[in-house]
Amino acid sequence: MIILNKEIINIQKEQDVLFFRNRVSQYADKVKMGLVNKTKLLTAGSELVRNMLIYANGGKVYCEIVSMSALQTGIRLTFTDKGPGIADLNNAMTDGFTTGKSLGLGLPGAKRLVNIFDIKSEPGKGTTVTITKWKNG
Ligand SMILES: Nc1ncnc2c1ncn2[C@@H]1O[C@H](COP(=O)(O)OP(=O)(O)OP(=O)(O)O)[C@@H](O)[C@H]1O
Ligand SMILES: [Mg+2]
Repeated sequence: MIILNKEIINIQKEQDVLFFRNRVSQYADKVKMGLVNKTKLLTAGSELVRNMLIYANGGKVYCEIVSMSALQTGIRLTFTDKGPGIADLNNAMTDGFTTGKSLGLGLPGAKRLVNIFDIKSEPGKGTTVTITKWKNG
């Protein structure tokens, strides 16, 4: 995997979500990602930044353009926080599981919208979620 471009976006307040969405949108346009895939990426990314804000008081997003080959270019977003972590990842990835009073669809929904989804979490240390969306497919 070749990393063509990298930027770190700090997420601390609601306004940062808007900035994040605009940047991801610009990156998607830069790689000529289609509107459907771009919308899926933005939807998944928004769920993950929202989780970071709500459960971890914010964190960082690494925003990268990645390339596997001339045909396989996409965007990889890594959301990392130093919040409380997630005790049971299997629960967290189940539709309808929430420790809040929400729908519990953020993580499993985000996973369905992207090509590669990876989540790591250590209770007491934090959570890192990485998603990759290819421009085609
Ligand atoms: N970054 C995070 N740090 C700590 N806990 C998290 C984090 N992200 C998710 N969680 C935990 O995983 C659970 C499931 O997250 P998910 O986004 O799927 O649902 P939700 O946020 O509860 O509801 P929804 O996203 O549908 O509004 C959350 O209720 C929370 O307990
Ligand atoms: Mg959520």
